Amino acid sequence: MTNKSPDYEQFLVRPNTGGAQGPREDYRYNFGTVLPGPDLLPLEELAEAARQAVLQQGHLLSFYPPPQGPEDARAFIARKMQEDRGLTVAPEELLLTNGSMEAIRLVLDNLVQPGDVIVTEQYLYQGSLAAFRRAGAEVVGVETDDQGMRTDRLAQALDELRGRGKKPKFIYTIPTFQNPEGTVLPPERRRDVLRLAQEHETLVYEDDCYVHERLDIEEIPATIASLPGAQEWVIYSATFSKIVGPGIRIGWLTAPAPVLQRITSWKLSGGNNYLSTMVVCRYLEQHWDGRLKELNRALRQRRNTMAAALDEHFGPQASFRLPVGGMFLWVGFPEAVDTGALQEKAVAAGVRYVPGIQFSPANGARNYCRLAFSYADPGAIREGIGVLARLLYREGLLPRG
Ligand SMILES: Cc1ncc(COP(=O)(O)O)c(C=O)c1O
Repeated sequence: MTNKSPDYEQFLVRPNTGGAQGPREDYRYNFGTVLPGPDLLPLEELAEAARQAVLQQGHLLSFYPPPQGPEDARAFIARKMQEDRGLTVAPEELLLTNGSMEAIRLVLDNLVQPGDVIVTEQYLYQGSLAAFRRAGAEVVGVETDDQGMRTDRLAQALDELRGRGKKPKFIYTIPTFQNPEGTVLPPERRRDVLRLAQEHETLVYEDDCYVHERLDIEEIPATIASLPGAQEWVIYSATFSKIVGPGIRIGWLTAPAPVLQRITSWKLSGGNNYLSTMVVCRYLEQHWDGRLKELNRALRQRRNTMAAALDEHFGPQASFRLPVGGMFLWVGFPEAVDTGALQEKAVAAGVRYVPGIQFSPANGARNYCRLAFSYADPGAIREGIGVLARLLYREGLLPRG
């Protein structure tokens, strides 16, 4: 017998990634997480949907859900994608996932090996970037402008890769309310992305995570996945995390049939949470329009509050575009500000944001940060932006106006 604990590294086969993020309640001014704040959760309606679901469908909890997810949930999602995004998919062409993050992970597990190339916007959702890196991918960022990915630069990047004998596994793009830049890719560029993918025989991964958070825009361009000829080339995922909350863990994926089949065969988790799926789909079936209207009204107010507070406290020292949808602002500060280096002090002051470097495949954007306006209420947003500004002035990073 020995009291010595084993060296666990001998059992663990993967390197440490730094770990998952913990709960977020400890930040007074939480501009870090992109999700509806607790005050925006439809708790009464969810409770009622849960009661109905359990009483009417609860007997199904005796079983594992079907591998692709419950059929009625997939039929509901297929109907919504048709009505809302003009995307025709049959329920059998959908795979329910544990949030869209699982969709991303399943795609990586099945398509990407160390050294493979993924082409993407010059800044992208830090969770995707971290997952791509963990998969050992070479992530190539393509320059963007106020309309999203520049497809002339995409063409160049693909040509350069071809010159190096590299064919990317896919072009990963968040064309609508891009995370973090908030841009909306125009229709002609969406067609370019598909055309270039076809020309270079690579796939497109369209991440439509924020597509429901339309703040000042009624009509958004059609999904890349719905363009003529796209079915054979585009993997598409979306989520209910942003409409309801990420705690429900419901996302979905559609992909060319052979890819979907392979991915499904490797989703070995016993399917998606049956209870959550039946409750949330029931809730959304009953409240879709009202929920989106109410949520987007609140988000619009929060976005405007944050923009006004940034103007008030930073003036020209903070630059950002007002996004027409989504849940965050991408904010640039003067060169001297290193948002990564400042993070610890910001957290100590109660402010959480995500430093720009976390979105950058090239480890740039050091003077940028993403500020989510979805979680904190307007009062906390006003206060928190003031706290952040005072910190930057105190640190001597901004000239006093
Ligand atoms: C662009 C994008 N994709 C995917 C996700 C993952 O969301 P979830 O797994 O909760 O559906 C996020 C979350 O912030 C995101 O911003």
